[in-house]
Amino acid sequence: MDLRAAEEAEIDHLAKVWYDGWQDARAQILPAELTRVRTLESFTSRFQEALPNVRVVGPSGAPVGFCIVKRDELYQHFVSAQSRGSGVAAALIADAEARLSEIGLETAWLACAIGNERAARFYEICGWHRAGTMVNHLEVPKGEFSLEVWRYEKSLKRSA
Ligand SMILES: CC(C)(COP(=O)(O)OP(=O)(O)OC[C@H]1O[C@@H](n2cnc3c(N)ncnc32)[C@H](O)[C@@H]1OP(=O)(O)O)[C@@H](O)C(=O)NCCC(=O)NCCS
Repeated sequence: MDLRAAEEAEIDHLAKVWYDGWQDARAQILPAELTRVRTLESFTSRFQEALPNVRVVGPSGAPVGFCIVKRDELYQHFVSAQSRGSGVAAALIADAEARLSEIGLETAWLACAIGNERAARFYEICGWHRAGTMVNHLEVPKGEFSLEVWRYEKSLKRSA
């Protein structure tokens, strides 16, 4: 699988993968107030900031999925609808876990929207466990949006 760093020229394409995935997985289960500010333009500008931490799978110019890590968090993980169920998501998460482990992290975490059952199932298959719920402070144009989410964790300790 072609796993690599994202390129600047791919930002618009990746923002669309993010926007479409957000619409599929979250728009129906999250507050309308949040959905309203998650525009395509907002994802484009967030991608510009995150670019050094983005890894993708897929052809140059048209990646089919991406993963972003941020400190000890698996921050964003999206795969286009046509590539779900193909193993792309698993390749991306394995790569992200390896990056987090390389920096010496023992436990990584991620936030999953409450009710995003497909993502929850996927993370559990990949060895993550639901530690409980937490309030996540999401970046929005006018500050922060507090949202209760499922918190997943995974131990990255290598066995001796
Ligand atoms: C989350 C995501 C990256 C997972 O990748 P994927 O390729 O869809 O994952 P897989 O198909 O390998 O695994 C999903 C599992 O959930 C199952 N599943 C599918 N729809 C489901 C549903 N509505 N409820 C519960 N489980 C579901 C699948 O059958 C599969 O389980 P199985 O292997 O036992 O059959 C991908 O679905 C995605 O990008 N979704 C949109 C964005 C998103 O939600 N990102 C995560 C944010 S926390």
